[in-house]
Amino acid sequence: MMKGIFPLDKFKAYETPFYYYDMQLLDETLRTVTAEAGKYAYRVHYAVKANANPRILGRIAEAGLGADCVSGGEIRAALAAGFPAERIVFAGVGKADWEIKLGLESGIACFNVESAAELEVINELAAELGKTATVALRVNPEVDAHTHAKITTGMKENKFGINLGLLGKVLDSLPALPHLRLSGLHFHIGSQITDLSAFRALAIRVNELQDRLEARGLQLESINLGGGLGIDYYHPNHLPIAAFGNYFAAFHELLQLRPGQQVHFEPGRSIVGPCGSLISKVLYVKEGEVKKFAILDAGFTDLIRPALYDAYHRIENLSSEEAEEVYDVVGPICESSDVFSRDTELNRVRRGDYFAIRSAGAYGEIMASQYNCRRLPGARFSDE
Ligand code: LLP
Repeated sequence: MMKGIFPLDKFKAYETPFYYYDMQLLDETLRTVTAEAGKYAYRVHYAVKANANPRILGRIAEAGLGADCVSGGEIRAALAAGFPAERIVFAGVGKADWEIKLGLESGIACFNVESAAELEVINELAAELGKTATVALRVNPEVDAHTHAKITTGMKENKFGINLGLLGKVLDSLPALPHLRLSGLHFHIGSQITDLSAFRALAIRVNELQDRLEARGLQLESINLGGGLGIDYYHPNHLPIAAFGNYFAAFHELLQLRPGQQVHFEPGRSIVGPCGSLISKVLYVKEGEVKKFAILDAGFTDLIRPALYDAYHRIENLSSEEAEEVYDVVGPICESSDVFSRDTELNRVRRGDYFAIRSAGAYGEIMASQYNCRRLPGARFSDE
C-alpha cells in the first residue's frame, strides 16, 4: 500500500524512527540544479553540512557537483563518497591545525578563510608541508537575509567572515604570507531565503566590492556566493524542487563579472531538503482536558529543527483516511520543547499509525543526537 510517495508495507519491516529518502526526487533535483547552473557555467558545491549520509553524498558526487565542507570529518566523508579533492572547498571560523593539514595534504581546491588570524596559521602550516594554499576571503557583505535569527550570517556583528571595513588591512597582509595564493572572495548571507531580493542585494554588493578591489589592482579568479536558497516547507508535494532557475537568473542578471571569472554556489538545503522525510510511529494518543496529543517514537533527538528554530515541517498521518482532528504532535524526550507541531489537523490518529514529517532531508539526520541514550535514527531509500 502506498500513501503519496510512501510505501507503507515496506515501512512495516523497518524499525522506527528512520529517515526515508526519495532518491528519484534527489536525482531530479540534481538534474535541475545542474541544468540551471550550466546555463551560465556556474559551479555548484553541495554544502555537506546539510546531509552527509554516504548514499546521498555518493549520488551528489556522481552528478558531478563539488563539495563545500566545514570540518575535517566532512572532508573525509566527501572524499570517501567520491568527490574529487579539486572540487572540495573548506570553510569555517574555527579550523583546527589537523583539519588544515588534512585539506593541504589531500589537495583540496580552496580554503574559505574567515579571519586574519586564520590566514597566518594556514600560511605557517602550508610552509611546513612545502605547499601553497589557495585561499578565498570570506567577506561579511552586510546584506540582511530576512531569515530566522539563528541562521542569518551576513550582517555586521557576526562571528562569520571578515568585515568590509577590515578587508583592506587583510589584503595588505597577504604579500607577507608567501605560502598563500588568493583566488577570490566568498560570501554567505544566511539560509532558508525565499525572497530573491536578498540575493539581488548581495549581487550588487559584490559588484561594488569588485570595483573597489580593481581600484587596488586586484583581479579575482572566483566569486563564491554561498548557499541559502530556501525550499517550500508548506507544499512538499506541489513544489518539491527549489526555484533554482530564478535563483541563478537573478545573479546572472546583476553580477558584473570580469573576463574568465568563475562563479561558485554552495547550496545545501535546496538540494537535499525536500527528498527526506522522518518516518515515525505513534506510541500513544493522550486525551487531555482541552488538547489531544499524538506521542511519537521520534523526538527532537531525531529532528531538532522545530525545537531549535521553531521550524515548520508538514506532518502527515500515513495510516489513516478518517476525518481530521486537531493534535499536538510531540516526542518522547523529557523536555517540554520536544514538540513537532501544535494544533495540527491530522486524519484521526491511533496507536501504531505511521507519520511522515516532511522536508526533513536537510539538517535532519545529520543533526540527530543521542540525548536520553537514544538510538540514532536509521536511513532508508526509495530505490532499495
Ligand atoms: N555555505 C555556507 C558558508 C554556510 O554557512 C551554509 C549554511 C551553506 C553554504 C548552506 O546553506 P543552505 O543552502 O543549506 O541554506 N541548521 C540550520 C541551517 C544552518 C545553515 C548553516 N550554514 C537549519 O536547520 O535551518
